[in-house]
Amino acid sequence: MTGTFIGIGVGPGDPELITVKAVKALNEADVICVPKSHADKASMALGMVKQILHDRQTPVEILELVFPMSKENLNVKRLWAKNASIVAAKAKTGKVLAFITLGDPMLYSTFLYLHQNVKELYPEVTLKIIPGVTSVTAAAASTQLPLALKDEVVAIIPSDLEPLIIEDTAKHADTLVFMKCANRVKMLIPNLARAGFSEGSTVALVKRCTLPEEKVLVGKLADMQSWDITEDYFSVAIVKRNPMTINSKKVSTH
Ligand SMILES: C[S@@+](CC[C@H](N)C(=O)[O-])C[C@H]1O[C@@H](n2cnc3c(N)ncnc32)[C@H](O)[C@@H]1O
Repeated sequence: MTGTFIGIGVGPGDPELITVKAVKALNEADVICVPKSHADKASMALGMVKQILHDRQTPVEILELVFPMSKENLNVKRLWAKNASIVAAKAKTGKVLAFITLGDPMLYSTFLYLHQNVKELYPEVTLKIIPGVTSVTAAAASTQLPLALKDEVVAIIPSDLEPLIIEDTAKHADTLVFMKCANRVKMLIPNLARAGFSEGSTVALVKRCTLPEEKVLVGKLADMQSWDITEDYFSVAIVKRNPMTINSKKVSTH
């Protein structure tokens, strides 16, 4: 008997942005797999589904899986394989395991490494994905800046990428979405200028999108130099090549 391993996107933070399909799967799963970067650190994804699990008719097993944030080294690979074997061992007893992940599982999610390992090492396990609202689309909604119109090109960029690669990518895009410590955009202004973005290009920074502590800053690229922004991993920046009308009611300051 083989079970099922489902990657569930639980959205950007607001529990009301979890899909109906995700809620159904969370209610029916035998095991909820929770990603953690450290064993002693609380899981943000688990906090977001707390009420759903609390309201369940039947109790559910919570399985914490520790995932290091580091990209390289052999030990990390071993840890992925070990986590995959834990998942597969439970799935093989016929259980349904649901792995909760922020935003969407298919966009820069740690889930993808686990999914890859289970797919390769345990092909007998049925794999499913339930998409979620990404922080990219949620940030666009919070800033009320469209990601794309007509034939515009959107580039999604990890902010810690080599600046020259960012510059090159920016040359071909109308909208840039920066993820992973998006406050770094401030340091990339010269690169964006060389890519044809102007002082009047619109920039928005959204921290802790859709959460009660959400902060939104919108202005011109030239203004960004004076923004007092602290580093926050949970931030997304949107830069629009063409100046946009700003919804000033949405802008908050630190
Ligand atoms: C590992 S990626 C995960 C992306 C996620 N799978 C998604 O679909 O949005 C983590 C990055 O997503 C962005 N992010 C996720 N949730 C966020 C939120 N509530 N507010 C702002 N940025 C968020 C940040 O850029 C963060 O560095």
